[in-house]
Amino acid sequence: MAEVLAIGRCRPYNKGMKTWTTPWGTLSLGRQPYDGDPALQAWSAADLVLARYALEAVDTSEKLQVVFNDAFGALTVLLIQNHRSVAQISDSSLGQRSTLLNLEANELSSDKVLLLDSLTLPEPEKTPMVLYRLPKTNALLEFQLHQIRSLLPVGSVVAASAMVKELHTSTLEIFERVLGPTVTDLAEQKARLIRSTVAERAPAQPEFPTVFAVEGLGMRLVNHASVFSRENLDEGTRLLLQHFPKIGMGKKTIIDLGCGNGVLGLAAARRAPEAKIYCVDESFMAVWSARETFHINELGGRGFFLPGDGLEDFDAASADLILCNPPFHYQNAQTLEIALSMFDQARKVLKPEGELWVVANRHLGHHKALAARFASVRTAALDEKFIVLRAKR
Ligand SMILES: C[S@@+](CC[C@H](N)C(=O)[O-])C[C@H]1O[C@@H](n2cnc3c(N)ncnc32)[C@H](O)[C@@H]1O
Repeated sequence: MAEVLAIGRCRPYNKGMKTWTTPWGTLSLGRQPYDGDPALQAWSAADLVLARYALEAVDTSEKLQVVFNDAFGALTVLLIQNHRSVAQISDSSLGQRSTLLNLEANELSSDKVLLLDSLTLPEPEKTPMVLYRLPKTNALLEFQLHQIRSLLPVGSVVAASAMVKELHTSTLEIFERVLGPTVTDLAEQKARLIRSTVAERAPAQPEFPTVFAVEGLGMRLVNHASVFSRENLDEGTRLLLQHFPKIGMGKKTIIDLGCGNGVLGLAAARRAPEAKIYCVDESFMAVWSARETFHINELGGRGFFLPGDGLEDFDAASADLILCNPPFHYQNAQTLEIALSMFDQARKVLKPEGELWVVANRHLGHHKALAARFASVRTAALDEKFIVLRAKR
């Protein structure tokens, strides 16, 4: 039976904690994963405008506060410090961890927070107060505004916030279309409060998840709203599929690291009928998409699907093959740190004869990063934009 396993182990951190001073309390906050950039912090002015709305503009003290997309838990922790009960909905398992670690760092109990993944809604007894941080994509925005509609009666006000640079005319059109009349306040420290009133007439729900077929490969890929390359196959992934490792017979352990819709894991499951395939991603929607991809391609019993931070839940020397198209963004920041941490983890988790196959943009320089960690690194394929690298301990 394929399984989605529970949220992975917590990796405690004590690096990069910063102080957030607000009119409602002072907090010490960190980002998980810590990426070493001293300029990055766990909160933004968009959290501040939502906090002001929740703690001053209206009396919400009796209501459950449903907080969406709280990247590192800053808003959640501030609300808990101010004696609110919070249901936090996030697509990021790392965001959930940051929330727990930031609560602990501020000696606050996690009893008053319910952490839910992005496909699950709370069942509040009374109408909740919704506080919404704008997500990265319009697809996720649209999906979540429909979720919010299902939580609230007509006439309720939804408070959302965004940094001015994230806010486009198309964004506000989605608020208007899905929820109803929408107004924005004047910008404060480059952030804006958005208020939408839920209107009577509900628009048709977009179809989620979507499915696309990969021409020539006989695969169908399932994609929930936040998944990487959810409308077509990524060109780097295609190159790796065209130059896929030859997998011998036997009970191998293969990991699709940063699985997205599970395309690489699925290709491995087809070629290695006796292997155990693990699909890992920090995004809940990715993990669920990968699981549904296996099912729709009739390989439902072959995979294990884990939300978490890279390979942290795997034992040393346990994997024969790791396949990876590593991320180069986290939240709104570009970063190579996650890819580098994945390479470090892969070195530990591979068996002595095991191999890591990586596809990436050539300009990212992953060849050097791998050569610093692995005894042998070879180029398995190359085109104008992408490179497939094969590393052995
Ligand atoms: C470039 S995408 C590749 C997706 C898929 N393998 C493909 O080829 O289409 C990178 C993936 O890594 C995931 N990711 C980001 N940080 C991660 C982390 N710390 N642990 C596991 N997965 C992570 C992202 O959510 C994203 O799905």
